[in-house]
Amino acid sequence: MKIFREKDYDAMSRRAAQVIAAEITHNPACVLGLATGSTPEGAYKYLVDWYKKGCLSFQEVLTVNLDEYVGLSPEHEQSYRYFMQSNLFDHVDILPDFTTVPDGLAADLNVECAQYDDYIRSQGYAALQLLGIGRNGHIGFNEPGDCFIKETHVVDLAENTIDANARFFASRDDVPKQAISMGIGAIMNAKKVLLCASGEEKAEAIYNTVCGPITPKCPGSILQLHPNVVLVADEAALSKLTAAGVAV
Ligand code: GLP
Repeated sequence: MKIFREKDYDAMSRRAAQVIAAEITHNPACVLGLATGSTPEGAYKYLVDWYKKGCLSFQEVLTVNLDEYVGLSPEHEQSYRYFMQSNLFDHVDILPDFTTVPDGLAADLNVECAQYDDYIRSQGYAALQLLGIGRNGHIGFNEPGDCFIKETHVVDLAENTIDANARFFASRDDVPKQAISMGIGAIMNAKKVLLCASGEEKAEAIYNTVCGPITPKCPGSILQLHPNVVLVADEAALSKLTAAGVAV
């Protein structure tokens, strides 16, 4: 695992955006696996900025997103489709048909999950998969549990994930209780994984991901088995690793 230690959120965002931009420059028709949440917002801002300056084009890029809340429409301000439109897609030259987010309103969620996996497989998996991490170590919405789930699936959100995400909603009761999440299989099949983290509240999850046991109790820990992971994190998110004497 290659680790970039950055001073703060802005530096982390810039570094992450540089890794993504490098991927697009190297391979303009790449498949990008994208993530939502507060962590990648800053990186998306840099990408939009560089696109507006003419340094970057998304014209041939195809994207697949990690997850979506069950029951939220694309127009709902907290849906991940809405997040992607407002943070990235609406501001760059990506083709709308080349962007995919799971459909949280699908009549049959299991069919939606199976089709999502078929689609990712048919595109040859992501060249680069961007990931944030939950405070409990979740990646996408692969929550801690008794086993790693390979396929895209419907997940009951953990209580602490609902707590963590309540800040985006009017009240905790408004947070959806379920989501569709890309499974561990598609994430691990990405050729490169870019894991980003900022803030002390992620320090334990990052410590467990990087040097804890590989266990579904910390879903991020499976990344230890991936041959090409780049971790971009700020000093606060790396603080438990540095306190333990791990060279970063
Ligand atoms: C969310 C998303 C994840 C994200 C994580 C952390 O619930 N499903 O993809 O990485 O939780 O979010 P944040 O970046 O806002 O801390």
